[in-house]
Amino acid sequence: MKKSWWKLGMSAIISVSLLAACGTAEDDTAGEEPVVPDTEETETEEATEGATTLIMGTSADYPPYESIDLATGEIIGFDVDIAKYITEELGYELQIEDMDFDGLIPAMGAGRVDFVMAGMTPTEARQENADFSDIYFTAKNLIVSNEEDDISSVEDLEGLKVGVQLGSIQEGEAEDLAEEYGFEVVKLNRIPEIVQELLAGRIDAILMEDTVAAGHMGAQQQLTSFELEAEGEVGSAIAFPKGSDLVEPFNEKLNELIDSGKMEELVLKWFDAQE
Ligand code: ARG
Repeated sequence: MKKSWWKLGMSAIISVSLLAACGTAEDDTAGEEPVVPDTEETETEEATEGATTLIMGTSADYPPYESIDLATGEIIGFDVDIAKYITEELGYELQIEDMDFDGLIPAMGAGRVDFVMAGMTPTEARQENADFSDIYFTAKNLIVSNEEDDISSVEDLEGLKVGVQLGSIQEGEAEDLAEEYGFEVVKLNRIPEIVQELLAGRIDAILMEDTVAAGHMGAQQQLTSFELEAEGEVGSAIAFPKGSDLVEPFNEKLNELIDSGKMEELVLKWFDAQE
């Protein structure tokens, strides 16, 4: 969490006066005027309008949840709109950091981001290192392949290569299925890269989420898909560092968003637009 300048300025001033107070009580420098360095004063003047900035980590390879708007270079999407709403309501500035999906929870553990929104599913394994909000959206997993390959069941994947995003729940699901159905799991970092591998025929299929596949299938007519039987729910939730104070206020605002019908508007805006 980055503190705003005025808070830094304030804490500097508070510690200076505490020092001064100690001085008076304990040593012979008592009586000397505490000296507040100039820089601190300038910082406190900027004071009033600064707000604390929260840094959100995401993996902007996942439209419509999050992607980079090619026209502006900005990160946009369903998750971004939700994050903007919640942080604005709670009086925070929002800054977004893009990184590989696999690096998000470690980045949060290292204190480089304050929360994560990346269409992330609150699995048990992740709950060991993160706290999660309520689930705000659910989806299903598909197998996407080139139509000409006639892949229409998990059995058809035997001996083939199936791409997944590294560190995703799809990776785990693919590994489970691979044992049973005998295919190879190819793990890559970014979804567009995985789709390219499929289009180029270097892999035979992708195990990915339906809502995200929809965009790629709309753009590439040669792709087809079938749904996988659910292994577990593919829900998305906001992730926080373990024990974070943000979970409760975020959940409150998240539920406000749902109850007011605004969430439905966002779902229509981002998920219906692609079909
Ligand atoms: N829902 C899946 C998971 O939690 C995939 C999320 C991938 N998100 C992304 N921004 N690439 O593992």
